[in-house]
Amino acid sequence: MLINRIVLITLALLSLSSFAQNVEREKLPPPRELTPEQAKVASANYQKYCSLCHGVDRQGHANDHAPSLRSKSLFESGVPHAILRPMSYGRQGTAMGGYLDEVGGPMTLDETWDLTYWLFWQAGVDRVKLSTNPVLGDVQRGEVVYQENCATCHGKKGEGITAPALGNQSALAHNSDEFIRYAIEKGRNDTPMVAFADKLSSADIDNVTAFLRSQASGWKQETQVLKHIPTPKEYIINPNNDDPNFTLNEQGYVTSADLYAALKAKKRMVLLDTRVPSVWQTAHIEGSFPLPYYTDFDALEKELPKDVQIVAYCSCPRAAADYLTNKLTDRGYLKTAVLWEGIFGWQNLGYPVKRAEGINDSKELSSSTH
Ligand code: HEC
Ligand code: HEC
Repeated sequence: MLINRIVLITLALLSLSSFAQNVEREKLPPPRELTPEQAKVASANYQKYCSLCHGVDRQGHANDHAPSLRSKSLFESGVPHAILRPMSYGRQGTAMGGYLDEVGGPMTLDETWDLTYWLFWQAGVDRVKLSTNPVLGDVQRGEVVYQENCATCHGKKGEGITAPALGNQSALAHNSDEFIRYAIEKGRNDTPMVAFADKLSSADIDNVTAFLRSQASGWKQETQVLKHIPTPKEYIINPNNDDPNFTLNEQGYVTSADLYAALKAKKRMVLLDTRVPSVWQTAHIEGSFPLPYYTDFDALEKELPKDVQIVAYCSCPRAAADYLTNKLTDRGYLKTAVLWEGIFGWQNLGYPVKRAEGINDSKELSSSTH
């Protein structure tokens, strides 16, 4: 009996392993199922929080080159953490902020997990099993491959131009080597990221992956103490002084230089940070209040006066701020303006921001300028 069983098991294992050689990669079981109620909330959360940049159909690139959240290769290679972590903690120095309540975002842990699985089910692809081993390669050769084939979109230093910042420390910390390699090999379907499987040798794909990994500094997510979020009643800065009377630039925006001058001259205004509040927690222009693009406008209208000068900014550099000021204009707010350069542009020009620890710095550049 026992011997029979062992023979059977051995046969089964043998046939499994020969099967595994025929198909390219082993499949993972499907992700956790959502109840209809969970799926409904996840879908609504997606539209409320994510569609501004990732697009109403998850196609990506609606604003600020936010990647597709439905491409086949992303979800095939997707260990859930590849979606959950950027959603929860963001990618520091890019327009992607963190949405988990722990870092000052609007979503609970359950909601972020449900949205992660909802995205998997919407993509509707089988997940493949990727190795967690490091990808070994020649880093110097990888850098040459990178500068020749990747830098035009991803930036000479991986800072991201029209494509994700591959040198971003939070991205490198969150993504495994095989996840990165898979994206290079397969590309990202229906996006400008083509498959390099037939453009580069397998060894060069290893080399460029090893080069990207060599850029990682061992960054870790830091926990920070969250600041009190002010209410709209507290919004007006210098309430007893004059309005700034901005001259807008050709495109109809207020420049960093003019905003800085108005703040120094203690002009009366409301300065709104329209990003997800977690990034306001990390760094913001002093005097600003977090009022995210997905705010409850009915509640706001009751408290925020209509005649005061409002200046809005984001890091997109203008997508969220434009969206929010358009909503305000529709509701009869008379004086709204958007910061032309966005907060990263502001920082890159050398203007100060207030950081989480209360440190004011004026010269430090953000890790990504897009
Ligand atoms: C024509 C522009 C372009 C070029 C050239 C290009 N990429 Fe991309 N890449 C993109 C875009 C755009 C995305 C985001 C796609 C999406 O919407 O998901 C991307 C995504 C990626 C991703 C996935 C990132 C993530 O976090 O999921 C990796 C890894 C990547 N590219 C590596 C490379 C490497 C390595 C090269 C050179 C061998 C390269 N790319 C060349 C445009 C480009
Ligand atoms: C203000 C624009 C913006 C909003 C809103 C936004 N994102 Fe992003 N997201 C980005 C950008 C830009 C990137 C790429 C950053 C980089 O790596 O350079 C990104 C990257 C990501 C990634 C990594 C994808 C990949 O291919 O590696 C995920 C996952 C993601 N976002 C999920 C979400 C979810 C879920 C929401 C809503 C809860 C959301 N994002 C809201 C701009 C945004």
